[in-house]
Amino acid sequence: MSNKIFASLKSIGAYAPKKILSNKDLEKMVDTSDEWIVQRTGIKERRIALDDELTSDLGVKASKLAIKRAGLKTRDIDAVICATLTPDFLCMPATACIIASKLGIKNVLAFDVSAACSGFIYILYLAKSLIESGVHKNILIVGAEKLSSVLDYTDRSTCILFGDGAGAAIIGTTENKKEAILDIQISADGDYAHLLMTPRSRATYPKDEKILQYLQMAGNEVFKVAVKTLTNDVVEILSKNNMRSSQIDHFIPHQANLRIISAVREKLDFPIEKTVLTVHKYGNTSAASIPMAMNEAYEDKKIKRGDLLLLDAFGGGFTWGSSLIYFGGE
Ligand code: COA
Repeated sequence: MSNKIFASLKSIGAYAPKKILSNKDLEKMVDTSDEWIVQRTGIKERRIALDDELTSDLGVKASKLAIKRAGLKTRDIDAVICATLTPDFLCMPATACIIASKLGIKNVLAFDVSAACSGFIYILYLAKSLIESGVHKNILIVGAEKLSSVLDYTDRSTCILFGDGAGAAIIGTTENKKEAILDIQISADGDYAHLLMTPRSRATYPKDEKILQYLQMAGNEVFKVAVKTLTNDVVEILSKNNMRSSQIDHFIPHQANLRIISAVREKLDFPIEKTVLTVHKYGNTSAASIPMAMNEAYEDKKIKRGDLLLLDAFGGGFTWGSSLIYFGGE
């Protein structure tokens, strides 16, 4: 009888556009201050893609790194899944198809997932299921965003929060549970949809001449639900797996707001040294935020094979989720 196959996080890669938009730059654009932004969010700067740099381009750069670090060739990839709320096209063709094409990956499953800032946890969940079904062997998952394209740079309550970037990972197979994705839980509640939205589609509002052009958010309400939901979610996944927070090597939360991260961290009694933080340099990059943060810790040589990672995310929808992962890469 053959051994059970588990899904494994084999590699990680990321890409951040070169152009930096600092809080000082924003001071010249809207009525805000570096002090206010740092105190309320922890963000100091964020990256902005070039006009002709698309979400798929950011995703391709992150993917190339992830594929190389997994020791694979593009021909080894048998599925491409992209999480994004800023796709190249609305909604066809999928950004995953464009990423696959730009990488020269042909004739494989490729599709996008819309789960906002929880997108990376959602595609991780799908990749795990596809691998453990026995059908797929090496899945490329990509969280990529060009959020600058949906931001109103006259609205100080939103434009200070978000940035552009991409992160990618290879989900492969292992027979070793200590190098496997241990658990993922994801959820959603559409009753909160109105609190965080990107532009309306013509299909929903065919006669609306003034289609909403930008991301809209009720920040304070989102903040409160995010803290409560994320705290409950991480407590639940740990208890479901009979684990204590002291067993976690790296806590890699969605990088939306330092105060949200701190609230969850304090509830779990996590030391700050074990918490990966990139929110100060990239802001909230939505579906790209967790893999970008993970990549940072990986490139700093903090994450090694067998380390236990705890991921958590919360976003528009509302959607949320968390995951416990034994890192399976080199
Ligand atoms: N600079 C200066 N003042 C600002 C500002 C800015 N960039 N943005 C808002 N303000 C002002 C408001 O106008 C308000 O002024 P008032 O009291 O005179 O009306 C005051 O600051 C407080 O606004 P409020 O929205 O209550 O602040 P807050 O403490 O909730 O912080 C956020 C605002 C957006 C930083 C915070 O709510 C947040 O991070 N929410 C979650 C966002 C998020 O993570 N979204 C993505 C989910 S994945």
